Amino acid sequence: MNHILVLHGPNLNRLGAREPEVYGRMTLGEINQRLAQQAQVLGAEVRALQSNHEGALIDALHDAQEWAQGVILNPGGYSHTSVALRDAVASITIPVVEVHLSNVYGRDDFRHTSLVSPVCRAKIVGFGWRSYALALDGLLQLISEET
Ligand code: DQA
Repeated sequence: MNHILVLHGPNLNRLGAREPEVYGRMTLGEINQRLAQQAQVLGAEVRALQSNHEGALIDALHDAQEWAQGVILNPGGYSHTSVALRDAVASITIPVVEVHLSNVYGRDDFRHTSLVSPVCRAKIVGFGWRSYALALDGLLQLISEET
């Protein structure tokens, strides 16, 4: 069975209440529950983790190398600022798919650059919570084709 880490970065614990016109009304708990159900149907298992702390996200990426076959990563605001997070993604060999709920390219200029994108395997933006669902589907297909 494939195991996938779903890693949510800063402020995503506020989903549902946080700028709902941008991020929607679904809570992080609801998103994680949907992903768990989707994974079960696809014969996989997801482990979800959220942190507001850069170091905790980096530790989770390093750990994932030991138990997961892939990672879905929403780095939140760290996408645009964190060299250390980018280096953590580059330090592991399992595929990492970057996701964003919002269409970052239609927003502030500073959101147009993601430091992690060049070291991720793929990227999905702008589908709201469905960005995660599409990433899970695509990532599991990649893993099954490549192993
Ligand atoms: C986000 C986009 C980022 O620019 C922002 O800082 C977030 C959420 C998204 O999922 O759309 O925290 O990653």
